[in-house]
Amino acid sequence: MRILGIETSCDDTAAAIYDSDHGLVSHYHASQIELHHRYGGVVPELAARDHIRTLLPLIDKLFTGPENDSRVPDGVAYTAGPGLAGALLVGASLGKSLAQAWEKPALGIHHMEGHLLAPMLEECPPEFPLLALLVSGGHTLLVDVPSPGRYRILGSTLDDAVGEAFDKTAKLLGLGYPGGPVIAQAAMAGNPDRFRFPRPMTNRPGLDFSFSGLKTHTLTTAQQHKLDHQTVADIALAFELAAVDTLAIKCVRAIKATRRERLVVAGGVGANRRLREELGRLSIDTGFEVFYPRPEFCTDNGAMIAYAGYFRLNLNKEGNPGRGFGVYPRWSLEEIE
Ligand code: KG4
Ligand code: ZN
Repeated sequence: MRILGIETSCDDTAAAIYDSDHGLVSHYHASQIELHHRYGGVVPELAARDHIRTLLPLIDKLFTGPENDSRVPDGVAYTAGPGLAGALLVGASLGKSLAQAWEKPALGIHHMEGHLLAPMLEECPPEFPLLALLVSGGHTLLVDVPSPGRYRILGSTLDDAVGEAFDKTAKLLGLGYPGGPVIAQAAMAGNPDRFRFPRPMTNRPGLDFSFSGLKTHTLTTAQQHKLDHQTVADIALAFELAAVDTLAIKCVRAIKATRRERLVVAGGVGANRRLREELGRLSIDTGFEVFYPRPEFCTDNGAMIAYAGYFRLNLNKEGNPGRGFGVYPRWSLEEIE
């Protein structure tokens, strides 16, 4: 079975073909970072317009590139939500149109299910049941997955998503956008003994997160110091260590509460090297296995949507035909069915 996957929920235009016999056939990706960089964040209208310009040529490459053939896929998966409404509509309308023209099922995919399933594209994919930490620019979720396609949210953020906190911190330190990679880069020169930032909501029970206090703490620290190169590096490191520690503490707590033996970490922040190192250490101490997508599939990509399309088609057999032409800018993982 071959599935075309389309992702346009935010600032990445991406498309891929997944084949259940051969794995990932090909994938293309165009980033809008340059477009939004000078605004310090994503401008929704510009994102949607750029998807319109970029998406069709990208899909065309999938069928005409050197490693591809022009076989019609067995289904078209597109991100139906959550995300920016205008951006989602570009992928949804093109995906639906192609499916209709080819007389194949169209599959409206939940973006976070795509992220959660991304490690399934790797050499040693996790089995179910598992626990997932989904950390992106819009979400911070701890999800229990007792069986394929069933999701129970154990914890989420009460305010900012962790990726958003990285982005806002980078902006206030004058480091640019997106924040995750530039904070991680700046933090490499940081002195770990200079500042220690709070680990929000770790000293009380529960699995929810809150990152706005950490962001404010960072802002206050930045205002109290002259932001020379070393101070920026020291603040970036203190922020990164606090964010990573907070996520890791909650993961271990969730593992112990659910007694799951596998943890999937996905979404843009899952590319963070310090987070991977910390979870690696804790997984040995606590006795669980951690699974990640390759770093390029932590951030938004078409491969995870193509795989999720195959996964959904397999689960429902007839696909997900009831979703109409609608997109779902706000859509909980627990409401997929
Ligand atoms: O999953 P994603 O590409 O898009 C959303 O669905 O939001 O995640 C983007 C987020 C951004 O906030 C970005 O700053 C963060 O992931 N990010 C990182 C790293 N790479 C990307 N955060 C921390 N460390 C990284 N290496
Ligand atoms: Zn994402």
